[in-house]
Amino acid sequence: MSLVFETFKTCAIEIDTLLKNPSTDYLASQNSSGDMQLKIDVQADKLIEQKLLAIESIKGVCSEEKQEAVYKADSNARLLVAYDPLDGSSLVDSNLSIGTIFGIYDEVLESRALVASGYIVYGPRLEIVLAHKQVEHWRYCAGAWHALGTLQLKSKGKINAPGGTQQHWTPRHKALIDSFFAQGYRLRYSGGMVPDLHQILIKGGGLFSYPATQDAPEGKLRKLFEVFPFAFVYECAGGEAIDGTKRLLELDVKHIHDSTPCFFGSSEEIARVRDTYNALENHTRI
Ligand code: F6P
Ligand code: MN
Repeated sequence: MSLVFETFKTCAIEIDTLLKNPSTDYLASQNSSGDMQLKIDVQADKLIEQKLLAIESIKGVCSEEKQEAVYKADSNARLLVAYDPLDGSSLVDSNLSIGTIFGIYDEVLESRALVASGYIVYGPRLEIVLAHKQVEHWRYCAGAWHALGTLQLKSKGKINAPGGTQQHWTPRHKALIDSFFAQGYRLRYSGGMVPDLHQILIKGGGLFSYPATQDAPEGKLRKLFEVFPFAFVYECAGGEAIDGTKRLLELDVKHIHDSTPCFFGSSEEIARVRDTYNALENHTRI
């Protein structure tokens, strides 16, 4: 496990260097979710894959940029790593923060098999957050990684980060989001899952939501590469992560690219989400 964490620290430094390279050409191909792939996505994907497959305890990898998982032949290893090599890469041209997200699974790619997770933030600073029992926060500075301490959420925060196209929100979801603003919560939404969720953790609380919408009934964010790893981070930090009614880390996975509606936050915000969506259960989710 610690070897996987150390490998992502090395990947972080190399991908951060790639990002400083000015080439932002688009490839003619699309990834399986329909987003345009940037060359940098492909480079980051390959870089991470090569380093992970060189680790003896790793049996295979899958990523947001690959149709199928890649398994080592003849390996008795147990660990599987699912990762999003460059989340929010369309924000590169705007020079906003982006990230890498990963989850470490024991033998099977299922929510209950997740044993550790983490993410890298490429911003004005290079940082990595590693979750395994507790949530460690590290910063790269003057050629070395420095431990900044652990991250813990309070029971309530002040940030509201609502994802998805408002035009397609349900009236109930809109009322839920508005209820937080009515209580003084401030809008903080960059369109990058990593910096948006990182900000809530750094400030100690709040709500990030990406609901089911009319145009995306299963949400947008992917279970294995994005949602489960962040659910694990938030739970280790004392927060909660649900799909509206159920704990995200109890959801099933039918296909590696499955997505789900998701809500991450501190306990008071998530309690209100649960109340709203439980009241909806007898009606339709959308
Ligand atoms: O990977 C998808 C992603 O770029 C996330 O980083 C982000 O949270 C989300 O899409 C933003 O989606 P939208 O623009 O629909 O709110
Ligand atoms: Mn992504």
